[in-house]
Amino acid sequence: MSTAGELAGRVALVTGASSGIGRATAETLAAHGAAVAVTGRRPEPLDALVAAISEAGGRAIAIAGDVRDEAHAAEAVARTVAEFGGLTILVNNAGVIGAGPIEDTTTEEWDRILDVDLKGPFFFARAAIPHLKGVEGATILNVSSVTGRRPYPGVGPYCVAKAGVDMLTEVLALELAPHGVRVNAINPGVVVTNLHKATDTVPDYDAFLERCKETHPLGWVGEPVDAAELIAFLVSDRARWITGGLVPLDGGRALTSLR
Ligand SMILES: NC(=O)c1ccc[n+]([C@@H]2O[C@H](COP(=O)([O-])OP(=O)(O)OC[C@H]3O[C@@H](n4cnc5c(N)ncnc54)[C@H](OP(=O)(O)O)[C@@H]3O)[C@@H](O)[C@H]2O)c1
Repeated sequence: MSTAGELAGRVALVTGASSGIGRATAETLAAHGAAVAVTGRRPEPLDALVAAISEAGGRAIAIAGDVRDEAHAAEAVARTVAEFGGLTILVNNAGVIGAGPIEDTTTEEWDRILDVDLKGPFFFARAAIPHLKGVEGATILNVSSVTGRRPYPGVGPYCVAKAGVDMLTEVLALELAPHGVRVNAINPGVVVTNLHKATDTVPDYDAFLERCKETHPLGWVGEPVDAAELIAFLVSDRARWITGGLVPLDGGRALTSLR
């Protein structure tokens, strides 16, 4: 089945699109024909992404802001609708990770991770839902993690946040099914992005990737395009009977440590 142009006429809002999985997802959805609004805190990489999508023949706008700010979520949804005439696809992707056992986790660090990774998706979903109800092809896709399904010592707040994202996904799927809106999550294993580099979660990133190749049963770690391809499928009509799904993307699930 050809997927070219299958998202034509659809409007996507992708949070955390300035790098990694979010950037690859925005580019892929645009390549499939969707108009795309991209968010993140840093305007420069967002502007570069908009330019790249435009040069490739797509349509995109950048809306810089922090997902912890509910006014930003409301503004991002409103600007997307104003610019493109509606909203069809919300991808809640922005995320951060932190390191250390629960015993040593400060209240500020707990709040930072829970606010970005769990409250952000709540803010964006809540703002988007009125625009999605009853719209053909309307869908929410949450980027969760293997840590939402299994405990990993040393990244406790992240595990708790992603478990919350999984439950948010399942509750929203049931609440929105009567309105024809599908809601799914993906649960990636380790993907090569800035996520772990941006913190001291992994002191030696290259050594970490080598260890992960051994603990991911397929023998390699993911690239952002692996997530983008799965997301593009799940937000398309090819996945029209899938909702409330927590879809693994992890090369075989045997990952035992995120340090
Ligand atoms: N990489 C992995 O191994 C892996 C595995 C499982 C799940 N995930 C999930 O995948 C998602 C994307 O992460 P990634 O791996 O692609 O990492 P990444 O390259 O670091 O991307 C994270 C994105 O989130 C944005 N972001 C962070 N804090 C934000 C905030 N407060 N407000 C708005 N945007 C914010 C960042 O942009 P700014 O810095 O410009 O704000 C960036 O665009 C996350 O939800 C992550 O938990 C990643």
